[in-house]
This record gives sequence, C-alpha cells and structure tokens, in this order.
Amino acid sequence: MSNLLDCLINRKSSSVPVWFMRQAGRYLPEFRTIRSKNKDFLKLCFNSELAKEITLQPIKRFDLDAAIIFSDILVVPYALNQNIDFKGVDGPNINELNLNSLLNTSKKSFLSKLAPVYDAIKITRKNLKKEKSLISFVGAPWTLLIYIFGMKEGNKLNKNIFSKKKNEIKLVMKKLEIFLEFHIEEQIKSGADTVQIFDSWAGLIDEDDLEEFCFGPNQRLVNFVRRKKIPTICFPKGLKKNYKTFNEVVNCEGLNIDQHVDPSWARENLKDVCIQGGMDPQLLLKDSKLVLKEVEKYLSIFKNNPYIFNLGHGILPQTNPEIIKKIVDKIKK
Ligand code: CP3
Repeated sequence: MSNLLDCLINRKSSSVPVWFMRQAGRYLPEFRTIRSKNKDFLKLCFNSELAKEITLQPIKRFDLDAAIIFSDILVVPYALNQNIDFKGVDGPNINELNLNSLLNTSKKSFLSKLAPVYDAIKITRKNLKKEKSLISFVGAPWTLLIYIFGMKEGNKLNKNIFSKKKNEIKLVMKKLEIFLEFHIEEQIKSGADTVQIFDSWAGLIDEDDLEEFCFGPNQRLVNFVRRKKIPTICFPKGLKKNYKTFNEVVNCEGLNIDQHVDPSWARENLKDVCIQGGMDPQLLLKDSKLVLKEVEKYLSIFKNNPYIFNLGHGILPQTNPEIIKKIVDKIKK
C-alpha cells in the first residue's frame, strides 16, 4: 500500500506523505518545453503519451508519494459539448452554453471524448512504481457551473446570472452529478487509486446555499467513490469556518485546507479526517529559510495527526523547482 493510501485509509501518522497541487506545470522547464510545442492546451491534455510524460516529470525530479494525472477539470464540460478556450484573461472561458446539447449528451459520446484521459492513466500506472499513488480528479459540480455559466467576475460571484438562471443551473447540476460519476468510475478502472474533488470556488457560495450547491453534491460523490473502495480528498476552497460543517456532513477521507484556514484551528475542529495541505503557495517565492520554517510549522502542528503535506492551492508558475526539492527532502528526513 502506498504511503498516501496508508494515511488516508489507515490514518497512519508516523510518516507524512507529500505531493503538490499543480506539481506538473509551468514552474518546470521540462513542462514549458512540451507546452511551447503544443499550443492547444486541451489537445495536450488529450495526448495520452504526452500527458503521461508530464504526469511523471515531477516524480523524476522529487521523491513525491503521488502522481496526479495531467488533465483538467474542464475536460468534463468539453465532453458535454461546450467549447472551451484557455486564452481568457480572467481564466478559461466556456463559450455559448447550448443547454439542450449539454443535457442530451450520451454516456457513450461523453466517455469516447474522454478516452485519452483513461489511456493516459493506464500508461502512467505502468510507468509508476507500486509505492506511489496515482491520483485522479474532477471538479465539483459548483465549480464547474461557475465556468459553464460564466458566473464569475474577477473573484466574485455574478449573483444576477445565478438567480436568473437558477432552473438551468439546477438541470445542469443534475447532469454533472451523473456524468462526473461516469468520469470517476473510468479513471478508477484505468488504475487511479485516489480521487481528489476540486471545489475551487466553494467560497463564493452564500451560507444558505451551501447545503444544496456544495455539501450535498460533494457528499454524493464521496459516497459513490467509497462504494468503489477508493478514498476521496475534498478541497472546498475558501469555506473558512464552514470547513467544519463540510467535514461533518461530507465525511471524506482527506480534506485539503487552503492558506486562509489556521492549521491549529483545523487540527482542533476537523475530526476523523486526514488533513492535507494549507501552506501558502506565495510563500514558496520567498527565501528558502523562511519556507522551510513554515514547512516545519505545519509538520509540528500535525505531528500527532494523519497529515499529507501539500499547499493551500497550486504551485505558482514563478516558483523555483529547487525549493520544491528542499521541501520534499526536509519532509522525507
Ligand atoms: O495538479 C496537477 O499537476 C494536475 C493537473 C491539473 C491541471 N488543472 C492542469 C492545468 C489539475 C488538477 C487542474 C485542476 C483545475 N483546473 C482546477 C482546480 C484547481 C484550482 O487550480 O483551483 C481549476 C479551477 C482548473 C481550471 C483551469 N485550468 C484554470 C483556471 C486554468 C488557467 C489558470 C492557470 O493556472 O493557468 C487552467 C489551465 C491549466 N490546467 C494549466 C495546467 C498545468 C496551465 C496551462 C498552461 O500551461 O497554460
């Protein structure tokens, strides 16, 4: 059993597994080399051989406990017939939602568009040592709805769209819940041993809507994955104190905290779960002494708890790969 699974399933706290969100990405020169020859980001995600290469790039450099398959949460709306464009200044855009076309997408058509992701998982698993986990992922329904309906202005929710389109939003959410299960199931069949659910925009949901748009959908996905005998790590970013209710309701195996959650508060309030992450990715741009001191802080706060080292969000593109090496080496010794 991998170190990561031992922590998630057996709540082992003797050694701290480590991996990073966006560990395969623009901070790595070898990623930028491949990326510069592959201008279309989605096509790159669907090139199974290159996706495998990119997934393994950080594993070759650092002694990480897990690889995360190189893909994106937006492959799901793409496979539901939405046009996606990664050139937007405010993050990626999904053009012209065609509600009927989305709602009428068949399982067969959906899975055939995503087949390259499953092939990438199969060949990555073959090339990854047994002791290393292979993490698959999806975006949570709410976070996908944000992109599908273009409901984000800067870092705020466009409440006008949200209230005007409530009915469509609910229909799409139902469809997403069913099709995310298909996507998760195929990723597991292909060899993924862990699932992470990214609810990156959970922090934009009003208190009164949390049950319907965040807790409920995450809980149903976690239960689905549990029936497959696989652990789930949830990441409801931005929930602040509501992380506590999230944990009690959703009951996931792993819970990633963001940099705005005080780790001591998390240790006291998030019970019966393996906590992951927390450290501010911005800090990794600072002097390495400071960085390692902060790593030490997280390790000492969680020293008697099952804890997976990671960050409060993805590695920033400006990050020097050397600091990642230093962090991993520190944790491993
Ligand atoms: O973590 C990993 O290394 C695995 C691969 C991965 C990517 N995206 C590759 C990617 C994962 C797990 C994601 C998840 C993802 N994608 C999320 C949830 C996590 C988060 O960051 O909040 C979201 C919201 C997306 C949607 C998305 N994809 C955005 C907003 C962007 C643009 C912003 C950015 O960081 O560039 C992307 C593009 C993207 N996805 C890149 C990578 C490596 C950068 C593409 C490039 O090279 O230009």
